[in-house]
Amino acid sequence: MKFNKEIPLKDGGTLLLRSLGAQDAQQALAVCRKTAGETLNLIRYEDEWTMTLEQEAAYLKKTEDDPKSLMLGAFIGDTLAGVGSFLPCAAVDRARHRASLGISILKAYWGRGIGTAIMQTLIDEVKKTAAEQLELEVVAANERAIRLYERFGFVEFARHPRKLKYRDGTYADMVLMMLDLRDKA
Ligand SMILES: CC(C)(COP(=O)(O)OP(=O)(O)OC[C@H]1O[C@@H](n2cnc3c(N)ncnc32)[C@H](O)[C@@H]1OP(=O)(O)O)[C@@H](O)C(=O)NCCC(=O)NCCS
Repeated sequence: MKFNKEIPLKDGGTLLLRSLGAQDAQQALAVCRKTAGETLNLIRYEDEWTMTLEQEAAYLKKTEDDPKSLMLGAFIGDTLAGVGSFLPCAAVDRARHRASLGISILKAYWGRGIGTAIMQTLIDEVKKTAAEQLELEVVAANERAIRLYERFGFVEFARHPRKLKYRDGTYADMVLMMLDLRDKA
């Protein structure tokens, strides 16, 4: 779906939240690669972002055209500082009531309220779709993200032991969280 809104930040800056389209493919890929290299809390290593520009452009166009999906870019001026999204969990009738959420912000922009603004927008917009629950997975040690999710009402419903294995041989458990969207206009 399409989205476009300016949001004031506490530090006096302005955040532009807008849906990403094919024209944003280069910036979006660069941000995904960079954030992957800045944290152990995402599923891929930086060098595993192997999507071509054409593939990324096609993906962003498809997402922007889909009324059940939102790929949001968070811009400070012309700079893409982070991305957040919701997508249907699966394209089958028995999973149509579930959407999954993801969020990733460049380290230089953490702690400015961008994560909060993205979360609020994703939740507001997913409520306009038929989704009844919003789901996510987060590395158990990612306290900052878990606090953010809990602030918006997400609750833990399971843990996946050793879901990630890092290249140094260590593991990370993941926490599965969900937000019940029913009867919450
Ligand atoms: C987790 C993540 C999304 C949080 O985003 P963020 O933009 O730093 O989040 P916010 O700034 O909105 O909120 C984080 C904290 O900063 C505080 N904060 C918000 N605005 C602030 C401001 N202007 N000045 C100082 N602190 C502020 C919030 O109160 C919050 O505090 P808390 O510690 O009590 O929760 C971000 O760190 C990130 O992308 N990390 C890497 C990828 C990742 O882990 N993604 C999640 C995968 S499941």
